[in-house]
Amino acid sequence: MEDTNKKIQVRRIFDSISHRYDFLNHFLSAGIDFYWRKKAIKLSKMNKDSVLLDLACGTGDFAITAKNSGVQKIFGGDLSFKMLSLFGKKVDWINGKMLETVAEHLPFHSNSFSNITVAFGVRNFYDIPSAFTEFHRVLVNQGKATVLEFRLPENKIVRNFYMFYFNKILPLIGRIISKDQEAYTYLPESVGEFDKKVDIVKIFTECGFAKVNKHSLTFGLVQVVIAEK
Ligand SMILES: C[S@@+](CC[C@H](N)C(=O)[O-])C[C@H]1O[C@@H](n2cnc3c(N)ncnc32)[C@H](O)[C@@H]1O
Repeated sequence: MEDTNKKIQVRRIFDSISHRYDFLNHFLSAGIDFYWRKKAIKLSKMNKDSVLLDLACGTGDFAITAKNSGVQKIFGGDLSFKMLSLFGKKVDWINGKMLETVAEHLPFHSNSFSNITVAFGVRNFYDIPSAFTEFHRVLVNQGKATVLEFRLPENKIVRNFYMFYFNKILPLIGRIISKDQEAYTYLPESVGEFDKKVDIVKIFTECGFAKVNKHSLTFGLVQVVIAEK
């Protein structure tokens, strides 16, 4: 069942913070997000022949990293028109190759892409199994879906520091800079809830993916899950 409320809430949040998104993203992660994206692309073994659909592409940082790593055919999709507009202003090669879409219903033919990537987006999907079923459909055989996502670290000390940062510091700075009351409170809430309730590996397997591997980065702060059709 489609969770219309979540879809509307998420679109509203990203439309509202879009103009500050890049700055806040790099500032709040101290730039380490660049390393995470690069590493996810390396682990997915993409190359110049890959045909990539970057979903929840937002302002395009993942797609741009893929381009800089040699991937030439790149498409982008996102729920938020304002995030996409900023992507189009950053690089001209994406214009005509990005569209406003939800991950849960993809307007592409089956077997169209060798790779799908989602960086920090799956947590916001309103129906993850539907999205992963769509990924399976539009990927070619042996194509790969790569998910980069936050998680709660297992190590207690790192976890406590993380909780403090995410629950206290991040909402405060986020609120002041983005001037959105809800957005940076929603982020830590959604990370905690997501970690308790969602097993990405299990959902990929249930959606028909043949092989699923999970990698942990930076003291377990983020995970990279790679699922092969
Ligand atoms: C945290 S941003 C990540 C942007 C980009 N991938 C990055 O690494 O910076 C999450 C993006 O997911 C998009 N999004 C959320 N739910 C979505 C859905 N169901 N389908 C497509 N995009 C979605 C939002 O509009 C937002 O641009």
